[in-house]
Amino acid sequence: MGERKCPLEIMVNDIKFWLGKKVLLTGHTGFKGSWLSIWLQHLGASLTGYSLDPPTNPSLFELAKVGDGMRDIRGDIRNLDSLTKALLESQAEIVIHMAAQPLVRHSYKFPIETYSTNVMGTVNLFEGIRASEKVKAIINVTTDKCYENREWLWGYREIDRIGGHDPYSNSKACSELVTDSYRRSYFDKENYASHGVSLASARAGNVIGGGDWSVDRLVPDCMTALLNGNKITIRNPKAVRPWQHVLEPLGGYLLLAEHLYNDGPQYAEAWNFGPLEADAIPVELLVEKICSKWGSNASFQSDDSYQPHEANHLKLDCTKSHKRLGWLPRWNLDKAIDFVIEWTKSYQNGQSIRESCQKQIDDYLDTKQVN
Ligand SMILES: NC(=O)c1ccc[n+]([C@@H]2O[C@H](COP(=O)([O-])OP(=O)(O)OC[C@H]3O[C@@H](n4cnc5c(N)ncnc54)[C@H](O)[C@@H]3O)[C@@H](O)[C@H]2O)c1
Repeated sequence: MGERKCPLEIMVNDIKFWLGKKVLLTGHTGFKGSWLSIWLQHLGASLTGYSLDPPTNPSLFELAKVGDGMRDIRGDIRNLDSLTKALLESQAEIVIHMAAQPLVRHSYKFPIETYSTNVMGTVNLFEGIRASEKVKAIINVTTDKCYENREWLWGYREIDRIGGHDPYSNSKACSELVTDSYRRSYFDKENYASHGVSLASARAGNVIGGGDWSVDRLVPDCMTALLNGNKITIRNPKAVRPWQHVLEPLGGYLLLAEHLYNDGPQYAEAWNFGPLEADAIPVELLVEKICSKWGSNASFQSDDSYQPHEANHLKLDCTKSHKRLGWLPRWNLDKAIDFVIEWTKSYQNGQSIRESCQKQIDDYLDTKQVN
């Protein structure tokens, strides 16, 4: 793979910042939550997680023994009392909220579960934070799908209208509205001196990475088919998504949290964390790349049966994160796919999952230029 040198400068996270910081992470038993927990443990954070059990079997959380390096609390974010108790006991100064029902197709079947988790779960968390005197920085992790999709060719900016066709996308747009309301009503910039809380939201692209077994997600479906020696079946081959390695937005959340904590309300707003323009490509092109990199005659076919509505064209404009946070993606899509395949083959060969994750985090931290 030819490495492309690029003159863009990447803002490197302040590794010492996290040492001993008390952090509450919701959704720590999930795919992104497990990766972020491993990363935060590596940085020396004092980490508490609050979530339901891992949503898949197998799960990255169990395979990488993520719970061993943190306080692992199992609970429902729809339960205000239990969530508030966990938050207060954690004495968290930084809260990263990732617990959610995150799947579009599941949301069509279970809209009540989706809205109650993604909307009232967010309200409950913010209510818990209002009862805490410790929390200084909060990031609500929503999604690129929170934008009202116009099927246009441009990337969505943070100032674009939010909306959402399916219950998942719409519930995340609602979670954004809840965030905005709490920021104006209780954590407003004007009265920062009295409450001391900075609240932001983060909208990432479609993340790929080792250890995701979620159903009806493209790359997990591909990896499962390849591991079983089956042909990959894809839906919506022409749909364009902003693909990125899971470590990219997680690095963005860490950088944003540092700014919220150190610099306060000037960063308390919405932020996009997506790939560069060239890496928003159609599903079929992504799967072609996966097949050619996997080898062993890997192939795919399209499922032409009726599918519930999903957006055709979705991109993020991340100019604001580039310019104001100094955040940039470090790995292009080819490199991200290489890392997913490397991770999956390590899993196939029975190697230590924890070590595979740690090695990729080290590689990511060592990358000082976009390539
Ligand atoms: N994976 C992606 O491509 C992607 C893209 C953009 C945004 N996101 C967002 O990132 C976050 C994490 O996504 P993921 O891919 O890791 O999902 P995941 O399904 O792997 O993990 C979800 C986590 O939420 C927890 N959870 C679900 N319902 C809960 C409840 N009622 N109470 C407490 N915990 C609950 C689960 O136990 C799990 O820990 C979500 O908010 C999702 O919307 C994901």
